[in-house]
Amino acid sequence: MSAKKQRQSLLDWVDERANIKPFMNEMLYHRVPKIVNPLDFLGLATLFVFINQMVTGMFLAMFYQASSQTAYQSIQYIMEKVPLGWVIRDLHYWGANAMVVLVAAHMLRGFYVGAYKKPREITWITGVVLLFIVILFAFTGYLLPWDQQSYWATMVGTWMPFYAPFVGIYIAYLARGGAYISGLTLTRFYSIHMLVLPALLLVFFGIHFAMVLKNQMLVVEEAERKPKGTKGLVTFYPYTVFQMTMLIVVVAMVLLILALSQHAPLLAPADPLNKAHYNPVPLWFFFSIYQLLKYIPSALDPLGIIGLPTIAVIALVALPFFDKNPRREPRHRPWAMSISGVTVAAVLLLTYLGAANQGISPSGPGPVAVVAKPSFTRDIEPIFQAHCAVCHSGSNAQMGLDLTSYASIQKLAITKGSTYEQTILWQKLTGKLQPQMPLGGPYLSKDTIQTIANWIAEGAPNN
Ligand code: HEC
Repeated sequence: MSAKKQRQSLLDWVDERANIKPFMNEMLYHRVPKIVNPLDFLGLATLFVFINQMVTGMFLAMFYQASSQTAYQSIQYIMEKVPLGWVIRDLHYWGANAMVVLVAAHMLRGFYVGAYKKPREITWITGVVLLFIVILFAFTGYLLPWDQQSYWATMVGTWMPFYAPFVGIYIAYLARGGAYISGLTLTRFYSIHMLVLPALLLVFFGIHFAMVLKNQMLVVEEAERKPKGTKGLVTFYPYTVFQMTMLIVVVAMVLLILALSQHAPLLAPADPLNKAHYNPVPLWFFFSIYQLLKYIPSALDPLGIIGLPTIAVIALVALPFFDKNPRREPRHRPWAMSISGVTVAAVLLLTYLGAANQGISPSGPGPVAVVAKPSFTRDIEPIFQAHCAVCHSGSNAQMGLDLTSYASIQKLAITKGSTYEQTILWQKLTGKLQPQMPLGGPYLSKDTIQTIANWIAEGAPNN
């Protein structure tokens, strides 16, 4: 029997039992309008990269060991000893970055063509949820190599919740599994990365995709509305299937080229004592937020860290409901286009500036007003209790430094020369002496630091 005949009879065998032929014919040979704009394939590109993440992730999980003692060595082992292990890790790393970029681009495209409007609201909202799931994937995955970069980026990222009113500190402690990043953080991030997020993603992607099938893609619907003869119909197979295959080949090539040309970073192992004075850098998609914080007064930091992202989420979810303009053509949506254009340009610019200048300088919560003549017990001691005691007290005294007594705080506040700028305390709080304290943030607000400076200038009295 020839190969073709064999295939035929296998198909017949399955068809006799599963009756797949009508379905296959309908799927493969139905006539669809030509899709000519590559941007309409961004969703498919995202899906393909996600499949790359699943497959490479499964292989990585065979060798990765999620504990603070072994994580770093297991990544080293993958990079150096496992055959092709480095390609798998690099593909996973570049795929993760590509996911964030592709989902954002897919979303912008959907916004531009008005694909969030009725009847596609559910598609849009599940898309917004998927964007956040992808960001959480990247954020939790970043910690797993347990190098300096992972450790300190996670320290920076997990203190963002500190700024949320009332519940902030609980959320931050819940995320960290304690006051700062430890093996507990690693195991919970791994579990979220491997189990929780994939489950959530499958649910929301299932709804997202079902809604796309139900309502058709917008380009397809628009082409169908054109008069007969101008629609440019093709059969799904082979025309569209060929396009999809080409797209997947291109995306796979780009990932492979990135993976082969630039390794995923692996710095020195995470060191909670930061003896080498590594300067924390946030994840790149937080650059815009951190850059913005450099321009606004520290009293407004909570607005930048919690307020704006919250507004952005609400705006994205609510978009289909408050934008009732039925027109989809960009030229008939001047408001939607200008507001989104300015927002996107601002985020891109801030990300660029943030990348060029990666240091973080946001400051933490603290008294809003400067106290001119501070009292130690009323104004100064509480600051140290709130911001330093977790790491500098009792058995947990980092560097043997217990900052719960007047004597030890005063020792740091003694002016060697004549000004408070020369004290170790001021230099550690402002970052003149690295690493800045409180280690990993949230750093003290400028006003809090000024209050401490005033107290030092008064001669650091025990009043
Ligand atoms: C998350 C834990 C943590 C917190 C919170 C923290 N520190 Fe530290 N601190 C450390 C560690 C770890 C070191 C040693 C790291 C290094 O020098 O690289 C250190 C070092 C220091 C040093 C330098 C000591 C020396 O001998 O070099 C000073 C001064 C200091 N901290 C002051 C403070 C002050 C003041 C606060 C509160 C505003 C604070 N720290 C909050 C962990 C912390």
